[in-house]
Amino acid sequence: MSDKKVNVAVAGATGAVGNQMITCLEESKFPVKTIKLLASHRSVGRQLRFRGDLIPVEELTRDSFKGVDIALFSAGGGTSKEFAPIAAKDGCVVVDNSSAWRMDPEVPLVVPEVNPHAIQGYTQKGIIANPNCSTIQMVVALNPIYRKCGIKRIVVSTYQAVSGTGKKAIDELLDQTRAMINFLDVEKSVYPHRIAFNCLPHIDVFQDNGYTKEEMKMLNETRKILEDDTIGVTATTVRVPVFFGHSESVNIETQAHITADEARGLLAESPGIKVMDDPRSNLYPLAIDAAGSDLTLVGRIRQDESIPNGINLWIVADNIRKGAATNTVQIAELLVQEYL
Ligand code: A2P
Repeated sequence: MSDKKVNVAVAGATGAVGNQMITCLEESKFPVKTIKLLASHRSVGRQLRFRGDLIPVEELTRDSFKGVDIALFSAGGGTSKEFAPIAAKDGCVVVDNSSAWRMDPEVPLVVPEVNPHAIQGYTQKGIIANPNCSTIQMVVALNPIYRKCGIKRIVVSTYQAVSGTGKKAIDELLDQTRAMINFLDVEKSVYPHRIAFNCLPHIDVFQDNGYTKEEMKMLNETRKILEDDTIGVTATTVRVPVFFGHSESVNIETQAHITADEARGLLAESPGIKVMDDPRSNLYPLAIDAAGSDLTLVGRIRQDESIPNGINLWIVADNIRKGAATNTVQIAELLVQEYL
């Protein structure tokens, strides 16, 4: 293991995920030599705390990455598309949380519990992609079953928190809830419909095939991470009035038979997973349990009695932590330990 200290930048440091990245870097004892906090010109003048020091937020420009070893990006797809190659040209490795580079064949898409070996592909473009939040928690939970029994098909429905959309959406749910309980007019700007006391079967933009982009991300990214194009995946992604924590109802058809008890045992001994599965005492994963945790919580594990080899699971994780910031920092840690 390397004892090297690195110069780090966080692009999008003032956002919901960027801020959490700073916290994860602090918590993980990541070997930071220097840290640069980057955002738009709107945030210049702000200061953010890192390990006791107040660090000024700088405007992200083409010159921001000179002398930086690793940059963690969460400033939107457009910013990543434009600035990740500029950073890479300056010799910086980018770990990008946006969807801009995920399906590029020369960019590894990594979940450390599942395909850590893929990180080595970073040399091609100097960029590593962090998968979509809903995909990360699903593959963490399904990977042990996939390795043991094979998976033919996945049917997933998600219940996704507003924090996945960013800070403005957190404010919108708060403001709308406050307005509703005070019988005031509800205003909406982030989502096309009211999100307070409602569920929206619409995350990201609709595609020609009737799926949303979020749903297609779950299909394509799952296959890329598991390195298996034969898996059938179909998804319905739904935004729900929850602040933090995505929940997923997942049905799988395995190649070989596995009982619910075997699946429970297998998941309980797998990295990054906590099994919470005792329905008799009302124990199952909840978004409020996941919020603040780096673990993927799995429960309601049961046989799908409609087919010979089917299992149902309920999978919950903190979308800002394991679904975004934690996974990005874990990738960066492996990069430093194994490759830099
Ligand atoms: P800023 O706060 O200055 O707007 P969220 O996803 O929570 O909305 O956060 C988005 C993050 O990305 C924020 O830190 C935001 O900075 C940053 N950001 C958005 N657009 C740009 C841009 N064009 N250049 C640099 N940072 C950007």
